[in-house]
Formats: sequence, C-alpha cells, structure tokens
Amino acid sequence: MKKLHLNSLLWAALLMSVASAATADIREGSQVYAKNCEICHAGDGSGAVPDAPNFRYGDSLIRSDTDLFNSISSGKGMMPAFQGVLSEQEILNVIIYLRTLYQ
Ligand code: HEC
Repeated sequence: MKKLHLNSLLWAALLMSVASAATADIREGSQVYAKNCEICHAGDGSGAVPDAPNFRYGDSLIRSDTDLFNSISSGKGMMPAFQGVLSEQEILNVIIYLRTLYQ
C-alpha cells in the first residue's frame, strides 16, 4: 500500500512536469510566431500574403510535424528558410503553436 502511494506521487510529479513543459513550448512558440511568422501568416493564422495557408481552417496542419519542420526549415514558395535563423527547438515550438490556431 505504501509503495502504491509513493508511485502515485511520482506519477503526479511526472505529469505536472510534462504539463508545464508543454505550456512553455506553446508560449515560446507564440513568441517565435509573433516575431517571425505573423507578418505573412497574420496574428490569427488566416494568412496575410497570397498563397499563405489559412491555419485557422487547418490548411497544411494535416501534414506531419516532420513535413512542417522541413518546410519551415528549408522554406517553401515565398516563405524564406528558417534554418540557422531559428533553433530546431524554436521550430518545434512554433509548430505546436500553429496547431492551436486551428478553429
Ligand atoms: C515572407 C512571408 C512568410 C513568412 C515570414 C513565413 N511564411 Fe510560412 N508560408 C508563406 C507562404 C507564401 C506559404 C505557402 C508556400 C507555398 O505553398 O508555396 C507558407 C507556408 C507555410 C507552411 C505550410 C508548409 C507546407 O509544407 O504546407 C507553414 C507550416 C508555415 N508557412 C509556417 C511558417 C512559420 C512557422 C513561419 C515563421 C517561423 C513562417 N511560416 C514564416 C509565407 C511566409
């Protein structure tokens, strides 16, 4: 019984740390977005330049994180490459944030 109790405490601590890590990622992602992406993708993700996907409608978001990572990293069409501008972690954070724009 004692062991079970300890286990559930450990689980609670683990779940809390996972939850706060995820929150931090979205917050950092939103800052990366505001600084680097909003100019073309608009604050709400609906797109501010021709050809930009409408993230509010889920455009492009059906694609895997890997595909989105590659597009952001290497650039696509009018979009510049962000490799070397943003760290891999920042790109991953901004992808997590993009997925929250889908209404
Ligand atoms: C100069 C304008 C511009 C900026 C800045 C920009 N984008 Fe884009 N983005 C575009 C355009 C235009 C497209 C459509 C490209 C195409 O399909 O030809 C696009 C496409 C995308 C896609 C879809 C890629 C795919 O493979 O379907 C994602 C995801 C994306 N942008 C995310 C971002 C993120 C995240 C940032 C900031 C780090 C960013 N963009 C900055 C213009 C921009």
